[in-house]
Amino acid sequence: MNSKDIETIELDLLIEAIRRRYGYDFREYNKETMARRISHNLSYAGLNNISELIPRILKSKASFERLFYDISITVTEMFRDPRFYVYLRQKVIPVLKTYPFIKVWHAGCASGQEVYSLAIVLQEEGCYDKTQIYATDINDAALAKARAGIYQIENIKKYITNYQQAGGRESFADYFHANYNSAIMNASLKRNVTFANHNLVTDGVFGEMHLIFCRNVLIYFNKPLQEQVFDLFYESLCRKGFLCLGSKESLSLSFLKGKFCEYDPELKIYQKSGDAGSEGLTHRNMDLKSNVLSESNIEV
Ligand SMILES: C[S@@+](CC[C@H](N)C(=O)[O-])C[C@H]1O[C@@H](n2cnc3c(N)ncnc32)[C@H](O)[C@@H]1O
Repeated sequence: MNSKDIETIELDLLIEAIRRRYGYDFREYNKETMARRISHNLSYAGLNNISELIPRILKSKASFERLFYDISITVTEMFRDPRFYVYLRQKVIPVLKTYPFIKVWHAGCASGQEVYSLAIVLQEEGCYDKTQIYATDINDAALAKARAGIYQIENIKKYITNYQQAGGRESFADYFHANYNSAIMNASLKRNVTFANHNLVTDGVFGEMHLIFCRNVLIYFNKPLQEQVFDLFYESLCRKGFLCLGSKESLSLSFLKGKFCEYDPELKIYQKSGDAGSEGLTHRNMDLKSNVLSESNIEV
């Protein structure tokens, strides 16, 4: 048995220890990413291998919480992938606006930048008042930051650029006020947002959502778990509801592929099918056929 095989056993034992001691199930997470994040945690804790980490995790909640933060990877930003927001504004929100109310689920919202980004777009498009947003994550520390809506001022320059590239209509400075090294988002942006802990591995559906964001979360899951979560989203969406994934995520190999229309395959925006006839078509293809939209219509 080589050292790689031993590391595999150690990793499985750690995951089992976490599951039995704290109830979190990481068995179906991508093993390579887990190993990388755990190795980062070992350096931080000054430990040589996973076997040394296991007793610490079992005995110290603080050690577990630090490891949990490393494993859950909460990297995010405002208006991440600006082109995605341009398309959302131009092609998805006009559809949502026709409804009497709009229900949105941000699954894996991390520290909330994505939630405030969507709230800004909805406000600028005049439909925030009739929207209810459920913003969830497995990580309570990240959720606390999301609820507070306080971000480091040094990130604001990047956020302003993203906002402008995402088709922002106002000045981004109108949406926060600076306080020393912090940017505090306007409280009005979260008045229709409910932040809550929800674990995509073990928790249940949200009812009749018109729009689900789950961006840059499924890349950390293996294929069977991705399928389980796609099923959860399918059940949580209303007919013709939209599902938005991250740039490296896709429904294309899923057994549920036929139950969604690829609204924009490149930007990973899918729409739950309303009837059998629309299955397998892409919205962009349909539009191109009718000369309504070409790639050049999308401003970036
Ligand atoms: C890289 S962040 C993505 C944040 C944001 N959606 C974005 O695209 O910028 C991934 C988030 O998924 C969350 N996450 C990981 N496993 C989860 C699970 N089982 N249930 C809910 N959220 C989870 C992490 O805590 C983390 O905040």
